[in-house]
Amino acid sequence: MLKKISTEQLVPGMYIADSGISRMENPYLYYAETDATVELINRILRNGFKEVFIDTERCRPGLIAEDTGFASALAGGGAYAVPDIPITVEMQAAKSTYSGALNQARTFMDSIRNGNTPELRQAEPLVDEMLQSLGRNPDALLSLCKLRTQDNYTYTHCINVAVLGIMFAKHLGFSASVQHATGMAGLFHDLGKSMVPLEILNAPRDLSADEFAVLREHPGMGYDLVKQISGLPPEVSLGVYDHHERSKGHGYPRGLSAGDISPAGRVLAVADVYDALSSRRPYKDAVMPHRVLGIMYQIRNKDFYPGYIEHFVRLLGIYPVGSVVELEDGRQGVVSGSNSAAPTRPKVLIMLAKDGTPLKPEEKDINLGECPPIQRCLPAGASPIDPAKAFNLE
Ligand SMILES: [Fe+2]
Repeated sequence: MLKKISTEQLVPGMYIADSGISRMENPYLYYAETDATVELINRILRNGFKEVFIDTERCRPGLIAEDTGFASALAGGGAYAVPDIPITVEMQAAKSTYSGALNQARTFMDSIRNGNTPELRQAEPLVDEMLQSLGRNPDALLSLCKLRTQDNYTYTHCINVAVLGIMFAKHLGFSASVQHATGMAGLFHDLGKSMVPLEILNAPRDLSADEFAVLREHPGMGYDLVKQISGLPPEVSLGVYDHHERSKGHGYPRGLSAGDISPAGRVLAVADVYDALSSRRPYKDAVMPHRVLGIMYQIRNKDFYPGYIEHFVRLLGIYPVGSVVELEDGRQGVVSGSNSAAPTRPKVLIMLAKDGTPLKPEEKDINLGECPPIQRCLPAGASPIDPAKAFNLE
């Protein structure tokens, strides 16, 4: 059955039908015969179409009755405002903060595995540095989070969850002290895994029910460890405890419902799932960020605090810094900065000409939103561009 809806109600997974109505008479109506993807929804909005016909029988089940708002989240702007400090300047400080945090995460986990209690309060100055760097120019640390998702997952994941958690807490309007506590809890959120036997943690197979039960104890074990550290606010240990709780009460370890989950726990649940899905692991490829946001959007009402995924989409946009993209004119480049006025038109450092020829340094321009729109995001390996080299990280 065909149904006409506003383009702002489109959700990934809907089937866009060609209604057969005259295009001349309906310039604001979008026509196609295809599944709605994030890229397509973005293009439809960018081109100013107001309405679209969907085929309700060919849409993924459950999408029609839902209150939809994915497209409005994309179109609504609100991405963070980037101060005037260029990413190239902030990158030096961000690199130092990121590698310091990596060393500390490694030290903490090794210490726990050896039966010791680490000096967790030593992380406080590092989280201060993260807050300061994110305040000067968030694109620097956020791009490192994206570019470091390829290796050392156990440690990079802690740092990424801390950085994303701080940014998200800030975006949601939480106080500086909650932002700091969220960063600390992000760093520590999986410390409990250091008490899980390695043969379970690294098992290259599905876990048995008993083994999975042991793994599910890691938030509680982390909580027990963190809460005994004097001087840490309770928000830190509660954030660790609650990062696997889910809005409808089907998470673990306590099965809390949305309103009972601590603020840091709600924020970290989003950051944890986003980083886990967008990272490459031995058993899976990295999923591109815009697809991860689409997946999280579809499970938002069940898993996450009401409204949080819509806010998270607004925060990150669909082309996070470090994404390799192809423009509509065929040139390729790396997203080098967000654009709060137009989240779908970020800054792009153009690296390759249309024919694939590398551009000379003087020909690469850091675009401020005037270049042709982005056609698509390219998966790892689909382009010769190495985003880490683009930012001089090697
Ligand atoms: Fe976890």
